[in-house]
Amino acid sequence: MEVWILYGDDIDSTADLAFEMRRFLAEGEKMGVTVKAFKPNQFDLLVTETNRDQIIIDGQWTDLPDFIFPYFNHSDHSYFSLAIVRQFERMGVAVFNNADTLERVRDKLHAHQVLAESKIPTPDTMLAKFPINVELVEATLGFPLIVKTLHGALGSGVFLIENTKSFDDLMTLVHETQPNILMIFQKFIAHSKGRDLRVLVVEGKVIAGMQRIAKPGDFKANYSQGAKVEAFKVDKKAANLAIKTAKALDIQVAGVDLLFTETGYSICEANTFPGFKGLEQASGVNVPEEIFKAMQNHLDAKSPRLVKKLFGA
Ligand SMILES: Nc1ncnc2c1ncn2[C@@H]1O[C@H](COP(=O)(O)OP(=O)(O)O)[C@@H](O)[C@H]1O
Ligand SMILES: [Mg+2]
Repeated sequence: MEVWILYGDDIDSTADLAFEMRRFLAEGEKMGVTVKAFKPNQFDLLVTETNRDQIIIDGQWTDLPDFIFPYFNHSDHSYFSLAIVRQFERMGVAVFNNADTLERVRDKLHAHQVLAESKIPTPDTMLAKFPINVELVEATLGFPLIVKTLHGALGSGVFLIENTKSFDDLMTLVHETQPNILMIFQKFIAHSKGRDLRVLVVEGKVIAGMQRIAKPGDFKANYSQGAKVEAFKVDKKAANLAIKTAKALDIQVAGVDLLFTETGYSICEANTFPGFKGLEQASGVNVPEEIFKAMQNHLDAKSPRLVKKLFGA
């Protein structure tokens, strides 16, 4: 099996997800999987009905791989990167996660709309609109509440606002400096303050889980914000909810975040480019190995011909 990982940064850097890239390359080598990393800007997209077996990389026509794994850095919201993923999909290459999924999930409001439709417990969420009706926000969501930028990641665009006065001040500032910014307001799940549960779901199966505990005084449990991670045995309720979430959003490789509630869990979000440094530490699970195995299974199920070709069966 040949897998191409699409990753925009330098693999040897300290950048977000570079560590994970090195893990994918190392595990691929151990497993006999050919893993190659390409940056989105190495591709040129020529759409043609004549050559359906190749793509242009660094100006050269190159044979297609068996699998594409987009692992864009979290701030890559470019049309170009999505268009590359679509090009592979339309030429019949297997992709985890596909372009529609990436688009759906990076829009936090859309993701919550899908979850609510599927009756999956998730904090009530409102799209910000100026002028803001503070009474309505207070009546529906209450204070404290959470403010998030629509496309944020790694915890950097998430704020806990204690009362109407701070909310008013922040919204005035935003309106004057960034009137076009897209934001959501969300019910604060106080029971989960400073901790959450991360569950990795690959092709509908729970692969690993961990609890994340925020730095003292912080409410955000992102590993990238300095949270501590610890082993957590994923109970049935959490597992079912994480699997249901991945299915509703059609995510093949999903990092699902669950908030703790008095009675169980509420889905905070699902991520399509889950970092897993902390998860491997906490759970002892070999994440790249599990993902490559799921890819191979996917190919086997889809194409008996390819199985024959690969294994001579
Ligand atoms: N509604 C909420 N109630 C309580 N804590 C929350 C809520 N939303 C987010 N958090 C905390 O903030 C962290 C980051 O929020 P999240 O929506 O996952 O944004 P990001 O995509 O930046 O990781 C979560 O891991 C959780 O610890
Ligand atoms: Mg998150």
